[in-house]
Amino acid sequence: MTALGFGGEVAELYQRYRRGYPDETIDALTQAFRLGADDVVLDVGCGTGQLTLPLARSLRAVIGLDPEADMLVQARAVVGDQRNVMWALGSDRDVPAIAQLVGPLAAVTVAQALHWMDHDDLFRTVRPLLRAGGGIAVVTNGVPLWLQDTTWSSALREFLQQWLGTSLAAACGTDERSQEVYRLSLAAAGYVVGDTRVRYSAPLTFVELLGGVLSAMPVEQLPIGRAREEFAARLRDAVGPGPFTEDVDVRLLIGLRD
Ligand SMILES: C[S@@+](CC[C@H](N)C(=O)[O-])C[C@H]1O[C@@H](n2cnc3c(N)ncnc32)[C@H](O)[C@@H]1O
Repeated sequence: MTALGFGGEVAELYQRYRRGYPDETIDALTQAFRLGADDVVLDVGCGTGQLTLPLARSLRAVIGLDPEADMLVQARAVVGDQRNVMWALGSDRDVPAIAQLVGPLAAVTVAQALHWMDHDDLFRTVRPLLRAGGGIAVVTNGVPLWLQDTTWSSALREFLQQWLGTSLAAACGTDERSQEVYRLSLAAAGYVVGDTRVRYSAPLTFVELLGGVLSAMPVEQLPIGRAREEFAARLRDAVGPGPFTEDVDVRLLIGLRD
């Protein structure tokens, strides 16, 4: 269904090594959309459920929607005893059909995934599907590991650029320009736009750094076998043994229906 590279081992690495979202993120969404026990939220591009699962704690139900079956398999494996989460195989194009089934949505969240979608179209499509006071949230989970403003991140970037033979600049929607584009697009689609951030610092071991980097590679680019060992050894030479400190800046663009 998708050739975006999130299948196979990448899905496992994603589930294991990608950061989730701190409770303050869930609090900010709850407050912005006045979420409560009667509400259903749709998490588009849910991946392995980093945002879907904590969101479900206090809602009637959350639907995680993703076109990559392997990501959903990983999400299901960690769902535990939460009975109000449903995983749906599909893309942003399927949002209207889901709203037809479940009725007005309290919110649609798109976490670290909007750069794969036609945001103008999605914002316009979603607005009539929301309940009063609801909205859409564009969430990003910090700048990619190799674009941060630290010595280890610069060393990581240099190593990756050499390994991949390409320059790495894409910030996956976390950069100011993308945020401004999304903000204007939300406003043009009729939303009242606001924003908030959750910032924190957290340690990162070498193994977590390696896992995080591998989880961001398309599956066909993953080094395997001896090449994986060489990749890890050269990465360690480049950045050192760690641990590292990562400053994570979770950004939320909030589009209120009205
Ligand atoms: C970087 S992951 C984000 C996962 C998770 N939401 C998070 O915050 O960590 C991006 C996800 O978007 C999904 N995706 C890509 N194109 C999509 C589309 N058109 N509609 C819905 N999801 C899409 C991918 O399959 C992948 O699981």
